[in-house]
Amino acid sequence: MTSDPLEHAESLIALIPDFPEPGILFRDISPLLADAAALHTVIEAIVAPFAREFDVVAGVEARGFLIAGAVAAASGVGMVPIRKAGKLPRPAASISYDLEYGQATIEMADDLPRGTRVLLVDDVLATGGTLRAAQRLLEGLGHRTVGTAVLMELSDLGGQDVCGPVHTIFRV
Ligand code: PRP
Repeated sequence: MTSDPLEHAESLIALIPDFPEPGILFRDISPLLADAAALHTVIEAIVAPFAREFDVVAGVEARGFLIAGAVAAASGVGMVPIRKAGKLPRPAASISYDLEYGQATIEMADDLPRGTRVLLVDDVLATGGTLRAAQRLLEGLGHRTVGTAVLMELSDLGGQDVCGPVHTIFRV
């Protein structure tokens, strides 16, 4: 076992072949989240570059909520959920974006004063479409995304070019 806390945390990510379809190697962060020390290590690594220079954390449904809630609690700020379409009782803004096949829509209620400094987080950066849409959603409401961070980046997919710079803990 490695003595580096981040390397140890990364080693807890379970590799699941052929999920959700044949040929895909799925990285399941559940064992990392379940380990108190590993969770603490990655949350501290996510917030470190931003030196608490943000007023709120926004997270993208669904697994992004897991990271965003922990980051917010560790930083002493609130958390805003950016939800998939149709889940919010009073969306203030909504944005659609392209997926490989089809489109997706995300929505946000807005309980923040204009100009709020937002740290935007998600679990994974792949093509960058989701986080770019979230950045635009926040911008459209008059807020400032002062940082964007993820636990894991699938670096071959070019997400940094779409919504970067994104602070990443694990690059695969
Ligand atoms: C995954 C992941 C990111 C997004 C990244 O979400 O949690 O939000 O894809 O992909 P992109 O960079 O290509 O946009 P998913 O829609 O699978 O939702 P989930 O968290 O509800 O599983």
